[in-house]
Amino acid sequence: MRDFKGRTAFVTGGASGIGLGLARAFLGLGMNVMLADIEAASLDRALVELGSHGDAVRGLVVDVADRQALEQAAAAAIAAFGRVHVLCNNAGVAVGGPQEKIAPADWNWILGVNLMGVVHGIQAFLPHIKAHGEGGHIVNTASMAGLHSAPMLGPYCASKFAVVALSEGLAGELTGSGVGVSVLCPGWVRTRIDQSGRNRPQGAAEASPAADTTMSRVFAELIQAGMDPAQVAECVLDAIRNDDLYIVTHPDMRGLVEERFRRIQAAFDRSAAREAAGRVPAAR
Ligand SMILES: NC(=O)c1ccc[n+]([C@@H]2O[C@H](COP(=O)([O-])OP(=O)(O)OC[C@H]3O[C@@H](n4cnc5c(N)ncnc54)[C@H](O)[C@@H]3O)[C@@H](O)[C@H]2O)c1
Repeated sequence: MRDFKGRTAFVTGGASGIGLGLARAFLGLGMNVMLADIEAASLDRALVELGSHGDAVRGLVVDVADRQALEQAAAAAIAAFGRVHVLCNNAGVAVGGPQEKIAPADWNWILGVNLMGVVHGIQAFLPHIKAHGEGGHIVNTASMAGLHSAPMLGPYCASKFAVVALSEGLAGELTGSGVGVSVLCPGWVRTRIDQSGRNRPQGAAEASPAADTTMSRVFAELIQAGMDPAQVAECVLDAIRNDDLYIVTHPDMRGLVEERFRRIQAAFDRSAAREAAGRVPAAR
């Protein structure tokens, strides 16, 4: 997609952080933007801040984990702006803690928002984007945690690996359709993700007291020293223009992914060695 002016973007998690950065960038290119966020107060603040864009920006309170609510939000965005071209499935939350202690309520919360929120977005908008025929682009926000896994972030990494995987598959399904797919894998970005607990559903907190929704001080410091969301948005615009599947923002983190691949390749080498030694039959 190379023409942005007059087109419309729907951005989940649009009231804060990376989503708000994306909204500012799209508005700067003359797009319309529908912000969709679970936090009414943040949404109001964002709409005031973006007020100079007039009717080009609107907001909806929606929980992306709620399929029906997201379908209604999609219908409202289409009613407001006519056609939606860019979908940013960006809303996300995190908890930290040892996997043995994170309760099912927290697993359900993280997977419900970070994974099913993306699925709901795709299913609510893709038929519309295909049908209007003007082309479009889907940007799914994963993370570097979707390309390499870290201890103490089990549900978060699982959700982000899943978002990378479904984005890769979707890109294959949409080849030649005029709808591009990108998966955003940032490193540390200066946002409020370290305070995800503010949106934790009632019930999860009591069920999983060991989970750390404020995340550890180390994570919080890395996030607060992280990249400006405006820079992330620039990377996303480049990827939409060039139809790039993977968006990485932190070249210094390359080694983490390379190390993971090295370990996987070493496992293949061991497998080949077992076969060569005749310890297992050759694979067909
Ligand atoms: N900040 C980082 O370092 C970093 C790194 C990699 C990936 N990410 C990802 O970026 C995305 C955006 O997060 P951020 O860092 O800007 O954090 P943020 O907390 O500043 O923004 C996230 C937004 O999502 C909203 N949200 C939370 N649950 C929701 C729900 N159920 N429905 C709708 N909206 C909901 C929040 O209200 C908030 O406005 C997330 O998917 C996150 O996992 C962040």
